[in-house]
Amino acid sequence: MKYLPENWRYVIHRTPRVTARIIFEMIFGGPGNVGLTYAPVQRTRIIFYLPLHYRFLHSPEKDPQKHMEVFMKTIAVNTIKGGTGKSTLAAVFINALSGAGYRCLAIDADASNNSLSFHLDYSGELEESNTIFNLFMGDPIRDCANKINDRLDLIRGDVRLNEFRSTDSLKKLKRSLQGLKYDFVIIDTSPTYDNIIGNVLTASDILLIPVLQDLFTYQALRYQFEKLADLELDNLDTHIIFNQFDKPQTENQDAYRNQITNLFLEDKTFKPFINPNRISRSSVFRKYINKAHYRIDGKTETMKVYEEIKNLIKSILDIDIKEGF
Ligand SMILES: Nc1ncnc2c1ncn2[C@@H]1O[C@H](COP(=O)(O)OP(=O)(O)OP(=O)(O)O)[C@@H](O)[C@H]1O
Ligand SMILES: [Mg+2]
Repeated sequence: MKYLPENWRYVIHRTPRVTARIIFEMIFGGPGNVGLTYAPVQRTRIIFYLPLHYRFLHSPEKDPQKHMEVFMKTIAVNTIKGGTGKSTLAAVFINALSGAGYRCLAIDADASNNSLSFHLDYSGELEESNTIFNLFMGDPIRDCANKINDRLDLIRGDVRLNEFRSTDSLKKLKRSLQGLKYDFVIIDTSPTYDNIIGNVLTASDILLIPVLQDLFTYQALRYQFEKLADLELDNLDTHIIFNQFDKPQTENQDAYRNQITNLFLEDKTFKPFINPNRISRSSVFRKYINKAHYRIDGKTETMKVYEEIKNLIKSILDIDIKEGF
């Protein structure tokens, strides 16, 4: 960033954060590599181009081809502690983004619990198809991805993926995903740390870490951050998200739950990554995963959860979700 000419720095300062990030990606060889078009231009012309880019990035239907080239983002959902809501959050993001018109690829990279595959393929129609195991064996994505609907493909989970837990390469998955024409790739994972997770993180732009307010989750998160530091993934946009969040008790500041919550909030390592949007505990989520075609939308029963998820997606991707999911 320090190589940026002075006049560019001025413009980027004065543009919204997400737009600025897009410009950086264009300049420094991010997805699509369209940055060269902009290299010689003056400040006024950059300003002139911004609204054009902003428009097609936020309207996938208008120019899908251009949109996909610039924008493909890979989102991993991972925690080392089990049962924190990874698959639920992955399913919510997949359904919300594909429902909003974005082309999505869902990958079930959980080698022990294929609940995401089950959620997206209730009828079990895809049982004979290739899986994530075949992808790791070297088969191309087109032979492993199953069409769920016009905007969503799925690579199913497979217990045989365990064979790759100590694989030598952390770049297998990243290589397989190169050049794809999706807007978002969303990857669910096992509650563990191994070279499958290393592959997922290396391939990802964004990491969602759902956490519960308990001591085991806190300890697992510390360990996870050590591992993330080892991988040196400086550009991984990481979000710690409180799931099943219980508000701190105001009448009893010393309550155990408050102490645990403060452990997270006051931890200097975690602080910059804690997303201010929290997800409440709600039976809506259980129905979501277990009942086929159950939808979260603005209707009374699901309204609160709908607003929470919309705000969360807006804060992470700067996308407005208008439909149910
Ligand atoms: N906000 C929530 N409110 C209530 N229940 C929730 C919430 N989030 C998740 N759950 C429930 O918690 C359970 C665990 O969620 P989920 O399967 O998504 O976790 P996971 O992290 O994927 O688990 P695993 O580590 O086993 O893969 C599920 O029964 C799910 O319905
Ligand atoms: Mg899961």
